[in-house]
Amino acid sequence: MSLVSGLWHEGARKITVAGLPPIGCLPIVITVFSSDALTNRRCIDRFSTVATNYNFYLQKELDLMQMSLAHLGSKIFYLDVYNPLYEIIHDHRKFGFEEVSSGCCGSGYLEASILCNPKSYVCPNTSAYVFFDSIHPSEKTYFIIFKSLQPTIDYILSCF
Ligand SMILES: *[C@@H]1O[C@H](CO)[C@@H](O)[C@H](O)[C@H]1NC(C)=O
Repeated sequence: MSLVSGLWHEGARKITVAGLPPIGCLPIVITVFSSDALTNRRCIDRFSTVATNYNFYLQKELDLMQMSLAHLGSKIFYLDVYNPLYEIIHDHRKFGFEEVSSGCCGSGYLEASILCNPKSYVCPNTSAYVFFDSIHPSEKTYFIIFKSLQPTIDYILSCF
C-alpha cells in the first residue's frame, strides 16, 4: 500500500500489476526439480499451483487496494500472464512452436540472464522456441502474450 501511495505521489494514476506465470513449466525449474531432468521434461504442477494461489490472493489484495484508492482517482489493474502462457505451453504446436521445455540459448536447461551473453550458443530459429533462456519467454511468446492482454491494456488506457 505504501508503495502504491508512493507511486500516486509521483503522478501514477493507472497502475498494473502482473501475476506470476506457470512457474512449474519454466525450463530451469524442470531441470532442477524433475525426477529425471533429461527424459522427463513435463511441467511440475505443484510449482504452478503456488503461482495460481499467489495470483488468487494478489487479485483479492488489489481489489482491496482499489477500494482504498478510489477516492484518489487512481486505478489499479491485475494483468493475467499465467493463462496466456499456460495456453501457449500446453498447445505450443498450435502457436507454431517446436520446443517448449528448453530455452533457445545455451543448453536451454539452466542458462539465464548473464549466462546467456554474446558468447553463448543460440539456437538457429528463436521463433521455434517458447523460451529464449531457461526462464524468459522468447520474443514471439512475449508478442502472443501481449496480443492476449491488448484488449485489457486498451481498456485501461481508455478509462477516465
Ligand atoms: C522458424 O520456426 C518457425 C516456427 O516453427 C517457423 O514457422 C519458421 O518457418 C522457422 N523459420 C526458419 C527460417 O526456419
